[in-house]
Amino acid sequence: MNKFSRIGFILAAAGSAVGLGNIWKFPYITGEYGGGAFVLVYLITIAFIGFSVLVAEMYIGSRGASDGVTSFETLAPPKQKSWKHAGFMGFTGLIIMTFYSVVIGWIFHNIYTTIVYGLPTDIHTAKANFDTLISAQPFTQLLWHTLATAIVLYVVFKGIKKGIEKMNMILMPALIIILFALLFYSMTFSKGFTQSLDFMFYPHWDKLTPEGIVKAIGHAFFTLSIGMGAILVYSASLPKGSSIAKAAFFVTLLDTLIALIAGIAIFAFLFSFGEAPSKGPGLVFQSLPVIFSQLGAMGTITALLFFLALAFAGLTSSVSLVEPTVEYLINHFKHSRLKAVLVSGGTYYIVGIFVLLSTTDGLSQYLGFMHTVIEDGKEVEKIFTLFDMIEHTTDAILLPLAGLLLAIFVGYTVNQSNLRNDLQQDMGKVIFSVWLFSIRVIAPIALLFMFLNLMGVITQADINAWFS
Ligand code: PHE
Repeated sequence: MNKFSRIGFILAAAGSAVGLGNIWKFPYITGEYGGGAFVLVYLITIAFIGFSVLVAEMYIGSRGASDGVTSFETLAPPKQKSWKHAGFMGFTGLIIMTFYSVVIGWIFHNIYTTIVYGLPTDIHTAKANFDTLISAQPFTQLLWHTLATAIVLYVVFKGIKKGIEKMNMILMPALIIILFALLFYSMTFSKGFTQSLDFMFYPHWDKLTPEGIVKAIGHAFFTLSIGMGAILVYSASLPKGSSIAKAAFFVTLLDTLIALIAGIAIFAFLFSFGEAPSKGPGLVFQSLPVIFSQLGAMGTITALLFFLALAFAGLTSSVSLVEPTVEYLINHFKHSRLKAVLVSGGTYYIVGIFVLLSTTDGLSQYLGFMHTVIEDGKEVEKIFTLFDMIEHTTDAILLPLAGLLLAIFVGYTVNQSNLRNDLQQDMGKVIFSVWLFSIRVIAPIALLFMFLNLMGVITQADINAWFS
């Protein structure tokens, strides 16, 4: 297997981590869950759990040096080889891709319409455009989903060095430059900028719900790409002698910085034009374009750069979502790389078509189910689409469950004296002890909390009581 260069590995791992999660999802869930307190839970989770689990996943990958299933099998002690099943977490990537690719399609569509028709100038038009796209234009969506799939599969087919590393070496620096430019531009709107900082960093505890906590923890895993075998399989191509701790540190830092920068800039624009922050998934597709349209030519350029950055972020994550399955198929079924790419890609592409149909009028009730939610004190019927289901299952259940397995496997199951030798040298005695404590105790407890909450054992009332 060809290896990454050192910088290539860091950019590829950061490229995996920095994705739609940072620029599209983080701002809108921060808006939905009330800002500061939510951001704080997210940051604490990243620092005390996310980083540790990321190191654990990199460790398994670099020592196992293969696909997820084989790496777990190699590192498990002789009588515990059934741990290899944990390696199947690599397939979660394909599940994520079924909606991820559809969302990248929406971004492509936005770039296209901005170039051809210009930006929508009022929120009704913007909303109508977005709603029409997702509810009445399945063929348009299909076209963009196809294009996104083709790009991703081509890069994965070219392999680690000539495909994935090369893509990240170009797109990641471009993405970082664009985001910093947006941040500096947003600073010129000083009132909105201050309001944005206040919204993002001042914790209003009363706005924090148990659902918000679960979301924050789930998102911390999603955003760092852990619990999915992506980082694991990249780490199998880590060049000899590289420091796992340093790589994990840079990836975490970059990922967090980019989410915060995107959030600060987006809210600064929103607040400058008197918009409310809680806009849901349509936030960057509806509210932002209208705001940019009020800034003249500069606004059109800003909008295009923003969507370009979003597309780059999505594509560099996508390749890491597909690669684990590709490696598995090559190693276990002796597929050629081309065949492995076509099988993996074909699977998510086809399920993706159902996902995009699930938001389409007339089909949504067949590809989803009705459920009752309380909105403003009233019970309303809502359709929970395939799109929602897949998203929820992955970031609230599958990724944290895999995180728990990773923590237990590295913290208790693998040969502990090898672990100590390897990592103590890498990160020093003190940090190693803190890390080990986090992986053995803190991470499992926090993840258990998530499941208890999901199963309704811990409720909103309990959490309110803790904070009052
Ligand atoms: N981290 C990516 C994001 O924030 C998503 C992702 C999850 C990518 C898991 C790979 C593995 O969008």
